[in-house]
Amino acid sequence: MKYCIITYGCQMNKSDSERIASVLEGIGYQPAPEISGADLIVVNMCSVRQSAVDRVYGLAPKLKKLKTKNSKLKTVLTGCVLKKDRLIFAKGFDLILDIKDLPHWPKLLEKRDAGQKRKEYFKIPQKYQTRFSAFVPIMTGCNNFCTYCVVPYTRGREVSRSAKEIIQEIKNLIKKDYEEIWLLGQNVNSYKDRKINFPKLLKMINDIKGNFWIRFTSPHPKDFSDELIRVMAKCQKVTPYLNLPAQSGDDEILKKMNRPYTIKHYQSLIKKIRTAFSKYRNGLEKDISISTDIIVGFPGETKKQFENTLKLLKKIKYDMAYIAKYSPRAGTAAAKLKDDVSPQEKERRYKILTKILKETAQNQNKKFVGKEIEVLMEEKKDNFLIGKTRTYKTVKTKSSKGLIGQFAKVKIIDISPWGLKGVINDEK
Ligand code: 5AD
Ligand code: SF4
Repeated sequence: MKYCIITYGCQMNKSDSERIASVLEGIGYQPAPEISGADLIVVNMCSVRQSAVDRVYGLAPKLKKLKTKNSKLKTVLTGCVLKKDRLIFAKGFDLILDIKDLPHWPKLLEKRDAGQKRKEYFKIPQKYQTRFSAFVPIMTGCNNFCTYCVVPYTRGREVSRSAKEIIQEIKNLIKKDYEEIWLLGQNVNSYKDRKINFPKLLKMINDIKGNFWIRFTSPHPKDFSDELIRVMAKCQKVTPYLNLPAQSGDDEILKKMNRPYTIKHYQSLIKKIRTAFSKYRNGLEKDISISTDIIVGFPGETKKQFENTLKLLKKIKYDMAYIAKYSPRAGTAAAKLKDDVSPQEKERRYKILTKILKETAQNQNKKFVGKEIEVLMEEKKDNFLIGKTRTYKTVKTKSSKGLIGQFAKVKIIDISPWGLKGVINDEK
């Protein structure tokens, strides 16, 4: 029996899919080389934005066609599924299963239980997607209820994983020569296992022997303590990259979003983080690379309020920004407000921010020209090796070598806003 998992959305969803794969293989399924050869198709969906939901709607005809060819084919929908969408999707899928119930899936799929049944979700081993970079969830769920967001409804309240378990998993990964550890959570910096908070956990992970990089996503500005700033900057395995979602550059909009901080506070955080890195790091590491998430066209957002977001982007000079046009999500508090910024105006605001981002990202990348930097090679595409720097920049380099999963020294010869181009030492 063969399975195929289609994953949409964030790294947390990708990490969930690794656990789903492990459960399915535990009950005898094997990965299908292609979707057409699968007896079980699991769609792990995301509801954060309407566009992501629409992609699942778009899949329905393909699944229907596959079912006519293979009458034994079973289709399962999981991930972030809103109540209202459940009813609609119930027609297109054989089963809708909750990711929180993953330990019970063997029974729910009417398969023999392979000993997974009563284990807690986090105890299910993952089938890591690569042999060099691993997602390690440290917490799940969210208590923040930002008014636009479905996550607290689809994933439930915050639950932290035991620190002992996290450390053990990472030690095992390092023994297997993993080079990059991504700590995942909807709100990583509200992690808590008795006296161990997120900074303490970071320090414990940093103390594990070995040559590896630590990344994490995503933190919330309201929980970003001075302790975290100090620990991040001092722990040399923690890479100089941070995604700190601002969502808006306007205090009134932040209030309406139920984001309990001001732009003044956000800016002072960024300043403290940059100062700490310049104090505790050397060379290019002194210049931490910073990205953010922004929503344009939140209900009632005036042109003036939008301009405050524009000002924020100009002031912070981000390396990257994930800019989204607001879409109402059923069941959230903001869905009760009038979605009164027209699609054309949202598009206009999106384009203005993207233009500024292009300039700031290009300027941030200039410092890399002529420098030799360490890159973790991730994939090969048309004779190019593609990898990431510690600052989370994408690097493209021509190489005949099979360096995937290895660190390589690359000399940067060209830049663009979205990446760097380089040559490998001995292939110049
Ligand atoms: N509309 C647009 N963007 C959204 N995001 C979350 N909910 C919405 C929504 N309703 C964005 C936020 C978040 C990212 C994962 O998705 O910027 O940080
Ligand atoms: Fe959603 Fe806000 Fe929680 Fe992030 S912090 S998952 S945006 S509710």
